[in-house]
Amino acid sequence: MSQTPPSTATPASSTTSNDANTMESTLQESRMFAPPAKVAEHAHISSIEQYEKMYAESIENPDKFWGEQAANLHWFKKWTRVLEWELPDAKWFVGGKTNLCYNAIDRQIDDGLGDQVAIIFEAEGMIDGKADVTKLTYNDLKREVSKFANVLKSQGVKKGDVVTIYMGMVPQLAIAMLACARIGAPHSIIFGGFSANAIRDRVEDGKSRIVITCDGSWRRGKVVPLKDNVDQALTMTDRVDTVIMYQRTKQGAPVTNGRDKDWDTLMADASDDCPCEELDSEDLAFILYTSGSTGKPKGIMHTVGGYMVYTYLTSKYTFDLHPDANDVYWCTADIGWITGHSYIIYGILPNRVPTVMYEGAPDTPEKDRFWEMIERHKVTKFYTAPTAIRAFMKWGDDYPDKHDLSSLKVIGTVGEPINPEAWIWYNQVIGAENCPIVDTWWQTETAGHMITPMPGATTTTPGSCTRPFFGIDAAVVNSEGEEVETNQGGILVIRKPWPGMLRGIYGDRERFHDTYWSKVPGFYTAGDGARKDENGNFWIMGRIDDVIVVAGHNLGTMEVESALVSHFSVAEAAVVGFPHDVKGTGVAAFVTLKPAHEESDELRKKINAHVAKELGPIAKADKIIFAEALPKTRSGKIMRRLLRDIAAGKEITSDTSTLEDRSIVEKLQAQA
Ligand code: WT7
Repeated sequence: MSQTPPSTATPASSTTSNDANTMESTLQESRMFAPPAKVAEHAHISSIEQYEKMYAESIENPDKFWGEQAANLHWFKKWTRVLEWELPDAKWFVGGKTNLCYNAIDRQIDDGLGDQVAIIFEAEGMIDGKADVTKLTYNDLKREVSKFANVLKSQGVKKGDVVTIYMGMVPQLAIAMLACARIGAPHSIIFGGFSANAIRDRVEDGKSRIVITCDGSWRRGKVVPLKDNVDQALTMTDRVDTVIMYQRTKQGAPVTNGRDKDWDTLMADASDDCPCEELDSEDLAFILYTSGSTGKPKGIMHTVGGYMVYTYLTSKYTFDLHPDANDVYWCTADIGWITGHSYIIYGILPNRVPTVMYEGAPDTPEKDRFWEMIERHKVTKFYTAPTAIRAFMKWGDDYPDKHDLSSLKVIGTVGEPINPEAWIWYNQVIGAENCPIVDTWWQTETAGHMITPMPGATTTTPGSCTRPFFGIDAAVVNSEGEEVETNQGGILVIRKPWPGMLRGIYGDRERFHDTYWSKVPGFYTAGDGARKDENGNFWIMGRIDDVIVVAGHNLGTMEVESALVSHFSVAEAAVVGFPHDVKGTGVAAFVTLKPAHEESDELRKKINAHVAKELGPIAKADKIIFAEALPKTRSGKIMRRLLRDIAAGKEITSDTSTLEDRSIVEKLQAQA
C-alpha cells in the first residue's frame, strides 16, 4: 500500500476509483508449486522453456502460429489470410469456410471414432439409489443433432436467424445448440436460473422469433418452472411465434396452443440427414449476454472460425487433453454461461475427450455428489469455481475424503480470483498435492482462457493466474497505455488481437467501442485491475471499480478478502467501501463463518487484528457484518453493488433480479 500524503486524500464521496495506476498490492504469497511429474512427463507443454519458445513464436509471428493450429481442424475451404485487423475489428481465417458442429462431431466420425463416448450425462435424480447416466457417442450425437437441425428448418429457421435456448442441463440442450451451429443459426442461450424478464429482454434484443425450452428442470429435487417462465416472458413481447418444449420433468406445463410444439413429436418425424452448412469464418456463431457495470446486459458476439480455433486450442493445452490416455473431463459450470459454451461443448468435443454434463446441485442427495461423480466416472480433468471450492471447504473434508479421487490429474478454477486459503485446500484435499491447479483468467468477451498456467510446465503460486496463453499480449498499464513497474497495480489490457476476441455487442456499436476500446487507446481493456510480479506472473486484483480508496490509500478489495479468509474462523468474505466521515471511504467486510465459530464482538476484533497483521492497519474493517451467506448471482458472483448499498445504509438501487436468495439481503440490512 502506498503511503499517500494526506493532502491527496480522496474526497469523501469517492467509494470507487478508476485510478488503477497507483494501486499496489501487499498481500505476499510466495509458496511455489512446480508441476507434478505425473502430469509434466506426458504433457503437450512439458517445460517452461517449451512454453516460452512457443509463446515467443506466437507473439512474433501470429499468422504462422494460428495458421498452423487452425489447420488441425476441418475446413471446407481454407482461409486466404489468417488475420485482417483494423482496430477494433478483427477478421480471422478470412475467406475460410468451416462449421463448429462439424468439428465437434463429424470430424471424429470421419476418423473412425464414431462409437466413442462424446457426452456423459448424469441426471440429478437417482434410480433405485443408482446414478442415472446416459452416454452419447459421436454417432448418437450426429443423429440427434441432425434430426433437431431438420426440426429447426421445418419451423422456418434459416441461416442467420437467432434461436433462443432456455433449458436445464440435459443432453437436449447440447443437441439444440449444436443443431443451431450445424445450420448456421446463431443461438442465444439464457441460463435456466434467469427470470421471465431476462428472457423477454434477450428475445427482444436478439430479435429472436423462436424459443427452445423444457417443461422444467430438476434442482435439489424440485422443479424449476422453465416453461412457465417462458409463458410469462412471452406475455411481455409478441416477437416469438414458436416455442419448442422438451418434456424433462413431465410435471405439468403441457404444450398449450398453436405456438407451442412438443420436442419428441417433432423429432419422431425428422430425418437424421442434415449436412453441415459451410459457414464463413466470420459468420456469427452465437450471442451470449453478460452484465455490464451499468445498464442492460450486453449481447457479446462470437464468430465461427476464430471461436472454434481458440476454444479448441485452449482446451487442449490448459487441460492437457489426451484422447488416448483415458481422459474424462468435467466442467461443473452451466452451459448457459460462456464457461459451459466453451469448456463443456465447443472446445472439448473437438479434442475427442468425453465431457461430463451434470444436471443438478452439488449437495443433492448429499454434499459429496461431485466427489462421488469423480470417482464413478474416473474424471481426470476437473474445472470449477472458487465460490464452489469455498463452499466445499465449509462443508468439510469428510465428504471428499470418503471418495477415491486418484483419477484426477489437472484441476481448474475460473470466475474470480481464488484466495490462497481456498487454493491450498483445493490442492491438498482434492488434488492430493499431485494435481496442478489451473487458475484461468478470462471473460465472456474473450471466448477462452487468456492468462493461465500450462499444467505440465508452469510453476504456480496460490492466487496468481500466472502467464498469458499463446498469442495473448497481456500487460498491466496506466491510462496512457504505458506499462507500470513490477508489482505496481494497473489496468489489465490485451495489446494484440486474438482469434477468440468478441466481434462486438449485438446491435450496439457505440457501447462496444466505449466499453472495451476507449479506456486505453489502442488496447482492449478487460475492466480488471492487475499487477505483474518479478516472475512475470499476473495477479488479478478485482474489477477496476472494486478498488476502494481508504484515507488516501488504495486497497484492492480482493486482497482484503484474501486476508480475511486466511483467518481460521472465516469461510467467505466480501469487502466493499462505504462513505466514511473521517476516512472518506471505510471498509465494510461481509463475513461468513466456518462451522463451530460463534459471531461475537470479540471475534470481530480478532479478525481485524489478523487483517492488520496481513495487510497493515489501514485495511482493518470499519464494519464486520456476519452473514449466513453472501448475496450472489445465480452464476455465483458476489453482488458487490448490492453490498455497497447495504453498507452505506442506502435503499437498494441495484437490480436484484439475478439474486439467488432475496432473504439474505434483509438479514444483512438489519446488521449494517
Ligand atoms: C470476469 C469475467 C470466464 C468465465 C466466467 C466469468 C473475473 C474470471 C478469473 C480468474 C480472477 C477472474 C474477472 C473477469 N474472473 N476468471 N481466474 N481470476 N478473476 O465470465 O462473467 O464474463 O466474468 O470474471 O473479473 O473480468 P464473466
